[in-house]
Amino acid sequence: MTTLPAPRTPDPMAAPALNWGVLGTGWIAERFIGSAQRHTRQRFTAVASRDAARAEEFAARHGITRGYGSYEELVAAADVDVVYVATEHTAHLACARLALEAGKHVLVEKPLGLNAAQGAEITELAASRGLFCAEALWTFFLPRFDVVRQVLASGMLGEVKSVLADLGEYFDPAGGHRILRADLAGGPLLDLGTYPLSLATWVLGPAENVQASGQAHPAGVNGQIGAVLDGRAVVHTTLFSDTPSTAVIAGTEGTLQLPGPFHQPGDVVFSPAGGGPPLTYTEPRTGHDGLHFEAAEAARCIRDGLLGTPLRPLTDSVATLRVMDEIRRQCGIVFPGEQPDRPRGRTAT
Ligand SMILES: NC(=O)c1ccc[n+]([C@@H]2O[C@H](COP(=O)([O-])OP(=O)(O)OC[C@H]3O[C@@H](n4cnc5c(N)ncnc54)[C@H](OP(=O)(O)O)[C@@H]3O)[C@@H](O)[C@H]2O)c1
Repeated sequence: MTTLPAPRTPDPMAAPALNWGVLGTGWIAERFIGSAQRHTRQRFTAVASRDAARAEEFAARHGITRGYGSYEELVAAADVDVVYVATEHTAHLACARLALEAGKHVLVEKPLGLNAAQGAEITELAASRGLFCAEALWTFFLPRFDVVRQVLASGMLGEVKSVLADLGEYFDPAGGHRILRADLAGGPLLDLGTYPLSLATWVLGPAENVQASGQAHPAGVNGQIGAVLDGRAVVHTTLFSDTPSTAVIAGTEGTLQLPGPFHQPGDVVFSPAGGGPPLTYTEPRTGHDGLHFEAAEAARCIRDGLLGTPLRPLTDSVATLRVMDEIRRQCGIVFPGEQPDRPRGRTAT
């Protein structure tokens, strides 16, 4: 092969236009809406906040038809086809349940839930209602990842032996970000750690043997974690520093490198085993402006009557959460509302 496969991602502008309602008015809500408005025909008819004035201000600023002062009101709106859950982690289950019980399709920000049990509950509810549901793990909907998907399917790498992935970002301890709040299930795992763990789980399958340890952050949450999965994946995530945030998928016939940040739009580089010229796929590094690809995929799936997306099946979302549960058990990390389990191995916050 002399070039890497071209991404098969359909034109986002060609995706059917659906009416979206958004729960939450935070950082990701702004970016998702902006990206979808720039690159798709999706319509944003409603946004809801726990605060009515905030909902109205947000709606006016983003050209959204209506701002609601409660999440309950939004899911009852007749002009909403699909709900995007953009709330913090601990509210994902309640918001997804609210939307599904109101008969709305749902796209839930990552992670699907705090733990595998919550992820499974959302999965079962969506299936029982016959509604579309997916985790908004935007990486898996990017053209970059369709190149990775095709390389893996083609066998170009030979037998895949290892995955090395890291995602780290410095957070100011005094900055007040929700990632530093224990009551909001803070720490890197559910935010940054989702990406390397999802990558390893997708490429190699769910790990049977997990060895993890972590370190506490002075804010009272876990600060960083390193984990080895079945001796063939090494993942790391941290709030202490900006790290290269690269990913490598290595096989007996070649190695695929995703320069950092590997979870955003960017390059894919294939190097044949033993040397030889590399093959490179390049796309503009547009950061979170790539969020619209997941909106377009959800719209296509809903049009086609699918209950999930093959690009990020709910079974994969729950499998990743199961690995996270085991990592947390070993590190002694317990989230709000969970029963503390007896930690095994080294203990971190
Ligand atoms: N895909 C990505 O690249 C990406 C990036 C960042 C975050 N995320 C995900 O998106 C979700 C939201 O993250 P974010 O960074 O946007 O957070 P954020 O800026 O803090 O916004 C979270 C929103 O959740 C709502 N909320 C509901 N209950 C809450 C509570 N008890 N405390 C605080 N807020 C509450 C708030 O909306 P109202 O006050 O308006 O009700 C708030 O604006 C997270 O689960 C995260 O994993 C994804």
